[in-house]
Amino acid sequence: MKRLDGKVALISGTARGIGRATAVRFAREGALVVGGDLDHDGALDTMRLIAREGGTALVPVQLDVTEEASVRTWVSEAADAFGAIDILCANAGTVRFGPVATQPYTDFATTVRAELDSVWLSAQAAWPHLTAARGCILTIGSTAGISGSMTNQRSARSAAKGGVISLTRQLAAEGAPHGLRANCISPGLIDTEGSRTNLLAADHPMRSIGRHIPLGRCGTSDDVTNAAVFLASDEASYITGSHLVVDGGWSAVLPGHAP
Ligand SMILES: NC(=O)c1ccc[n+]([C@@H]2O[C@H](COP(=O)([O-])OP(=O)(O)OC[C@H]3O[C@@H](n4cnc5c(N)ncnc54)[C@H](O)[C@@H]3O)[C@@H](O)[C@H]2O)c1
Repeated sequence: MKRLDGKVALISGTARGIGRATAVRFAREGALVVGGDLDHDGALDTMRLIAREGGTALVPVQLDVTEEASVRTWVSEAADAFGAIDILCANAGTVRFGPVATQPYTDFATTVRAELDSVWLSAQAAWPHLTAARGCILTIGSTAGISGSMTNQRSARSAAKGGVISLTRQLAAEGAPHGLRANCISPGLIDTEGSRTNLLAADHPMRSIGRHIPLGRCGTSDDVTNAAVFLASDEASYITGSHLVVDGGWSAVLPGHAP
């Protein structure tokens, strides 16, 4: 018996990065995966990857998690195809970094919409199916949601991800009477296609900061996915409203070095 056998898992942002890794891993654990991404071709590639491994995946539509109509279509196509939705992993997001002194408001608003509003929209659209299934919601926060940074000018991400962490607790409260669990995973610095274009780019100061992570390396998408499988599985049936930080100790340990 696999850990997610027969569960229908809706995952956003499956064209690459953490979303793709989660889709592939959930399928290996027996889930029926419904992916979606603005990058529709990338999401279809992930679906084919899963199919080649013998898993089941569907990408019903091109998904924009910031557009209510798009999210609702995605959810209803998934429910029509599989008859239920057990897991929502609200992963997709995009960020615009910049100093609070000069960042255009549109960059702030675009980030909050993509990283926070999107989670609310997905949770609301999937809610009737998730409560009917006594299912679970996984949100993706960030260490940016629990701390400031001297090196990375990230007010928009901090605001959005702090909101995601809080929103998850409220989803847990409103879901509990229906047997619906909601938990948040906050990754630290994870090596993905997305982070390679900004924080892990060759000339970005965060790249060297990453060397000071207590466990000695940046995270991988699989590090996040290991936590996601656990929280989505029945092994976590008594866990809701929790916030699991996956950051190699980065946010818990003050800067310094071993004696
Ligand atoms: N990589 C990190 O260091 C890190 C750290 C903390 C949190 N996170 C969070 O993890 C999640 C995934 O990050 P990643 O590094 O894999 O990112 P990524 O940029 O590699 O992948 C994100 C995927 O989401 C899709 N996407 C973006 N906006 C979308 C939209 N409006 N509608 C549908 N799809 C959309 C993109 O096309 C892309 O395929 C995000 O929520 C991010 O904030 C990442």
